[in-house]
Amino acid sequence: MGVKIPVGILGATGTVGQKFIKLLEDHPWFEVAEIAASERSAGRPYEEVVSWKQTTAIPAAVRNLELRPCIPNLKCRIVFSGLDAGVAGPVEESFAQAGFVVLSNSRNHRLDPDVPLIIPEVNAGHLGLVAPQRRRRKSNGFIVTNSNCSTMFLALVLGPLHRSFTVEQVMVVTMQAISGAGYPGVASLDILGNVIPFIGGEEEKMEIETRKILGRLEGETVNLAKFHLSAQCNRVPVEDGHTESVSVKFAHKTSSGEIAALLRGFSGPPQELNLPSAPEHPILVTDAEDRPQPRFDVALAGGMAAVVGRIRPCPVLDFKFTVLGHNTIRGAAGASILNAELLKAQGFLDGKWEEV
Ligand SMILES: NC(=O)c1ccc[n+]([C@@H]2O[C@H](COP(=O)([O-])OP(=O)(O)OC[C@H]3O[C@@H](n4cnc5c(N)ncnc54)[C@H](OP(=O)(O)O)[C@@H]3O)[C@@H](O)[C@H]2O)c1
Repeated sequence: MGVKIPVGILGATGTVGQKFIKLLEDHPWFEVAEIAASERSAGRPYEEVVSWKQTTAIPAAVRNLELRPCIPNLKCRIVFSGLDAGVAGPVEESFAQAGFVVLSNSRNHRLDPDVPLIIPEVNAGHLGLVAPQRRRRKSNGFIVTNSNCSTMFLALVLGPLHRSFTVEQVMVVTMQAISGAGYPGVASLDILGNVIPFIGGEEEKMEIETRKILGRLEGETVNLAKFHLSAQCNRVPVEDGHTESVSVKFAHKTSSGEIAALLRGFSGPPQELNLPSAPEHPILVTDAEDRPQPRFDVALAGGMAAVVGRIRPCPVLDFKFTVLGHNTIRGAAGASILNAELLKAQGFLDGKWEEV
């Protein structure tokens, strides 16, 4: 393997930032060269500042790196962003404007008309928005986003179903892990032995982001998928893993068996291109009557797959099933890394930047 591509992590101290650092530790293409966070943390070594919550040690190559402020003068061309949404908008924009490729986890730019919101197995073609984005900005830099964590697993599973049977209506109820709220996140006295039926902005994000991901790129515009989607989101006392109860109405007839076979056999560009972080099967289907469960199934496929179970007819819509996914891996840092791998494999990160 040749020289690795240096990358930076914005928001390196946070829940998602830490996952980036863990997942990139032995990455074959990328190495963490720069880390950045708030002014509170800048200027100090990572180990001294971070409240490290991973189950493996801080990678030796990062432990003593000095945290930098989030100013676009880092010694790399690619940055992964796990920034707090309160600051991510202008910071990510400033990096893209300065010529950086920004892989963002934050909500701020996901719905910008020329910013791709990508799940590589489902809508890799939406990277066609990169050229108009660069043109608009008159810069070689650009932003590519991944979805909100609960949207990720819904859209990944609806992707092949929509393509084959045309989704018309979706009802989804989520049971979302505490780690989805970042660190320190939800107070223990609020969540222990409890369910909180409100996650600010989450339902709206699921309802719109899913339709952008499953929308069609026509010219330089993504037209939203036309189905109706209603989401109800709950925070539950689970450490990692978002579980979703989904009911779907299709335009075309199908069966539980056909749905299971379609999901089991599904793959896309990451598998064809053999990308380093691609799971062999992006969707795993279980026949067990009481699975998936976050405690047992969240780490399957290294946390990079959606796990689907309990596929059965629905007396109100057509079919219903349960979906589980790892919110900080495929729902966040792992998704961004897979997006970056797709960009590299498709030539977006080659040598000199393309002319604008
Ligand atoms: N957690 C998940 O499962 C998940 C999943 C998908 C997407 N997301 C999204 O990913 C982003 C990060 O989430 P998280 O859960 O990792 O949050 P978090 O644990 O609260 O971390 C936030 C990060 O942002 C940095 N930050 C805060 N204020 C800043 C400022 N003024 N300037 C520069 N950096 C600043 C923090 O640095 P300091 O330590 O220096 O304050 C920290 O590194 C959010 O937009 C979130 O919505 C999270």
